[in-house]
Amino acid sequence: MSRKKIIAGNWKMNKTPSEAVELVNTLKPLVQNPDVDVVYCVPAIDIIPVKKALEGSNVHLGAENVYFEDKGAYTGEISPAMLKDAGVEYVIIGHSERRQYFAETDQTVNKKLLKLLENGFRPIVCCGETLEQREAGITMDWIRMQIKIAFHGVSAEEAKGVVIAYEPIWAIGTGKTATAAQAEEVCRGIRETIADLYGTDTAEAVRIQYGGSMNAGNCKELLAQPDIDGGLIGGAALKPDFGTIVNYNK
Ligand code: 13P
Repeated sequence: MSRKKIIAGNWKMNKTPSEAVELVNTLKPLVQNPDVDVVYCVPAIDIIPVKKALEGSNVHLGAENVYFEDKGAYTGEISPAMLKDAGVEYVIIGHSERRQYFAETDQTVNKKLLKLLENGFRPIVCCGETLEQREAGITMDWIRMQIKIAFHGVSAEEAKGVVIAYEPIWAIGTGKTATAAQAEEVCRGIRETIADLYGTDTAEAVRIQYGGSMNAGNCKELLAQPDIDGGLIGGAALKPDFGTIVNYNK
C-alpha cells in the first residue's frame, strides 16, 4: 500500500500573529508538492490569521494542543469546537514538551485522542523515548505502552486516520538526529504495535512520522525508509528549509 507522505511543521511557541502571516507568505511558493500533505501546526493565537493567510494554498492547518472537555470552567484551555470553528484540521497531542512541562500523560493523551476523533479531526499523536530509556534498551517497550494507552477505546476504522509521530526526546531541538536505521526500527515497531491492536489493514493505512532535528540535509534519507511516512518538523519549519523538506523527492 502506498501512503501519502505528510510533512508537518510544529511551530511550538514561536511567531506572533503578524510574524506568522509573514512566514506563511514567505513559505507559500516553496511548499507546493502534490505528493505530500503539508500541515502547519501553529500557536493557538495564530490559528485565525494563519487560516486567512493560507486561503487558496495547499497547506492544511493544525493546532499544537486541545483540551478533552467540550466546554466549561477550564480557564486557559481551548476546546475542540473552538478549533473546528476556526478551520483547524490536524491537532498534535502528547508532544514530549507538553508531557515534560505541562503534565500531559498517556491517560490525558488518550482522552484527547478520543475527543478529537469524536469531533472529526485528524490527530497527530506523539510518542518517544528519553536517552536513558534508549540506553537501558527499553525503547520499544516504552513506545508500545505509550501507543497502547493512547489508542485505548479507539476503533480500527478511526485508528486508520490517526497520524503517529515518533520523536525521540534526545533528538528534539538538539541537532542530534536519529539515524535513518534507528528511526525506521522504531517506526516499524509502531506499525507492528498497531497491527497487534487492529490487524494489518489498519497498520498499513496508518501514517507514521519521524520528528527530531529533521532538516533539509537529512530528510531525504529518513523519508526513504519504508515505515517513515513523513516528518514532524520543529526548528526547520520556521525557515525556507521547510520547502526543501516538503520537496524531498524532487
Ligand atoms: P526539532 O525539529 O526542532 O528538533 O523539533 C522536533 C519536534 O519536536 C517537532 O514536534
